[in-house]
Amino acid sequence: MSKQFDVIVIGGGPGGYIAAIRAAQLGFNVACVDEWKNDKGGPAPGGTCTNVGCIPSKALLQSSEHFDHASHHFAEHGIGLSNLSIDVSKMIGRKNQVVKQNNDGILYLLKKNKVSFFHGRASFAQAVEGGYEITVSGSANESLSAKHIIVATGSTARQLPGAAFDEDRILSNDGALRMAAVPKTLGVIGSGVIGLEMGSVWRRLGAEVTILEALPNFLGAADEGVAKEALKAFIKQGLKFEFGVKITEVQTGNDAVTVAFTNARGEAVTLDVERLIVSIGRVANTVGLNAAAVGLQVDERGAIVVDADCKTNLQNVWAVGDVVRGPMLAHKAEEEGVAVAERIAGQHGHVNFNTVPWVIYTSPEIAWVGQTEQQLKAEGRDYKAGQFPFMANGRARALGDTTGFVKFLADAKTDEILGVHIVGPQASELIAEAVVAMEFKASAEDIARICHAHPSLSEATKEAALAVDKRTLNF
Ligand code: NAI
Repeated sequence: MSKQFDVIVIGGGPGGYIAAIRAAQLGFNVACVDEWKNDKGGPAPGGTCTNVGCIPSKALLQSSEHFDHASHHFAEHGIGLSNLSIDVSKMIGRKNQVVKQNNDGILYLLKKNKVSFFHGRASFAQAVEGGYEITVSGSANESLSAKHIIVATGSTARQLPGAAFDEDRILSNDGALRMAAVPKTLGVIGSGVIGLEMGSVWRRLGAEVTILEALPNFLGAADEGVAKEALKAFIKQGLKFEFGVKITEVQTGNDAVTVAFTNARGEAVTLDVERLIVSIGRVANTVGLNAAAVGLQVDERGAIVVDADCKTNLQNVWAVGDVVRGPMLAHKAEEEGVAVAERIAGQHGHVNFNTVPWVIYTSPEIAWVGQTEQQLKAEGRDYKAGQFPFMANGRARALGDTTGFVKFLADAKTDEILGVHIVGPQASELIAEAVVAMEFKASAEDIARICHAHPSLSEATKEAALAVDKRTLNF
């Protein structure tokens, strides 16, 4: 006899657990099934984001940034240090603690909201009268059924053909977050978000990092001006880049990995590194879901096919987050999770894909929302641009972090903000103002006329908005 629910959420990552909580808030009897295990075999909900993504990478970025500051910047403040060292196992231990706090926090939140949590793998068993039957296998072995199913099974790291992850020499995001020692040399394939964040962590701790990128240019999704400024800063820090490469072979030896590639000039090159991170994107995860049992439509890339409202081809089966189209971002998954729960309740859940912010947590941080200058040019849109450098911002000078700028793009006639691009200190936090502004269809002048605290980095945002009308006050 299967346990009956109104809604079963498959997957407990940011898309799934948030959908479960929102559905429970709306009065539904909800189950959430997640199979992720901690090192003791217990439940570790939170998905890639909590366990091997957003959260642990930010913990290591913080630790490595402290080390970098102590190594290179404390002296400017008159702080002397001798015998500076890094205890990698302690750093990884702290990161694991941060992950555990988040895992436990999610279990607490599910309980608080009366969501029934099942630790195991959920798969479709069959369609039944008025809904679907789901089999859970793992720590929990159950049969569950519900009218509504929300699939939030996330994504996994894409493997490079001929270079399977062994998480020892060839690392995915998972292995990159738990190296036992700082490698002398580190290769990274793919100069995307993971490559840059993980490359930065290990570079700050002393690794010589070489990033190999297939495309001829850097961070194609970012505004070109921002990408250029960021690349300059990363090269200055010591990250090495090769663009336009074609990887021909990856060979793993006892204590090294050899990557053979053709460089942009067509020359054959080999790179020997102690460890290699492969960060060339992620693929939707439907492994073990048994989608075929109920005829759930999956596309050729393995993603579940959904419409704009996250509806699949099956009545009352929904899918959200990395397992469907759109950017693989935790906050996009959360928004979809909330919207689906509200749609199930007959409300009008909405996700505005035009105002989903992007953040790369390097130093300088990179963040943007809306369209890039190259996109506006390609569209033939008439726009105005305004830019303000952190070099001219008092708070940035006091922080000793003056790299980068804030850039506004606004419609030439209406002045509506079309995109905001930030490279510099605290870009991840500063972008929130731009998201709010765009969501409310603000003009650049609206931001320019708002009082911003002094001294703060946010004044650079105001000044960039003023720059759209060529009237900066401090530059
Ligand atoms: P990505 O899509 O950001 O970057 C992959 C890079 O690898 C691209 O530049 C691509 O041109 C390159 N590439 C692909 N195949 C290649 C090959 N054979 N040889 C050399 N280069 C190749 O993917 P990444 O960094 O793996 O991240 C995966 C996902 O995780 C992304 O969707 C990202 O949005 C998300 N993520 C988000 C974070 C954040 O929001 N801060 C942090 C980390 C990941």
